Amino acid sequence: MTETSPKGTVAYEVVDRIAWVKFNRPDKRNCMSPTLNQEMLEVIESLEFREDVGVLVLTGEGTAWSAGMDLKEYFRENEQKGLWATRKAQRQAYSWWERLRWYHKPTIAMVNGWCFGGGYGPLFSCDLAFAAEDAQFGLSEINWGILPGGGASKVAAELLSFRKAMYHAMMGENLTGTQAAEWGLVNEALPGDKLKERVTEVANVLLAKNAVALKATKDAVRRVREMTYDNAEDYLIRAQEAANSFDAHGRKEATRQFIDEKSFKPGLGAYDL
Ligand code: ACO
Repeated sequence: MTETSPKGTVAYEVVDRIAWVKFNRPDKRNCMSPTLNQEMLEVIESLEFREDVGVLVLTGEGTAWSAGMDLKEYFRENEQKGLWATRKAQRQAYSWWERLRWYHKPTIAMVNGWCFGGGYGPLFSCDLAFAAEDAQFGLSEINWGILPGGGASKVAAELLSFRKAMYHAMMGENLTGTQAAEWGLVNEALPGDKLKERVTEVANVLLAKNAVALKATKDAVRRVREMTYDNAEDYLIRAQEAANSFDAHGRKEATRQFIDEKSFKPGLGAYDL
């Protein structure tokens, strides 16, 4: 059953251990107002440690994933109130994106339509991303006279080659979902009517993996990007040893199933949890 946040800006339902969370302002192309940012933080926090949630999918109601920050409610109205209001609104937005970047469960962006500017924050926060072939991705900031802030320049520089990031940020041209997949902004692009099916398939693969190992893995991939090789090596040893204390049983059981029972091969799939 679909539930909505108190002011209705976020909709969500949990089906077979997948939490489907939606930006829910379709008439405003799901742009992010302070209310939406506050409610999204509350919703994802409420889902994070639920036993019946194994994967979170972030998608949008209607024709948009998210048309970025709300130019009226996030920018103009807060600028009129003063710097304190702007800073507060920034904290609200950035805090749910950060929460999502380090989320306890695997996260998937299912980009069904428009994805602009500030939308690149949550796009990057999700571990994996799948888009409709005809979705549109744009750093439109330059088109209305600002730089791609709120992390958007960083996201472009993280996910794209230098030349492509520069072109994308400076030209204000959109990419289709198909191009976004070719450029590396998302993992795959699919026909719109196949998108949910593919995301469900990916989520189900993740649900069959060791959850402690998945959290350690996704954090490792994000953390090591900024480390030297030696620091990464050291971090990864410590991260695995820390994971062992949460799940002493998992890899021993997997080793038993492979070496003794010969019931599975790690090179071909996951062990029986
Ligand atoms: N901020 C505030 N309102 C918005 C935003 C936004 N980012 N995006 C859409 N809306 C509102 C429109 O003002 C309109 O409101 P109204 O019905 O009260 O007039 C409603 O949503 C529908 O928008 P349309 O433009 O009519 O929808 P359409 O489907 O024709 O176009 C599109 C969609 C291309 C996404 C267009 O709305 C658009 O360009 N939006 C802005 C995209 C953008 O540049 N976002 C900011 C990125 S920069 C940043 O995030 C920091």
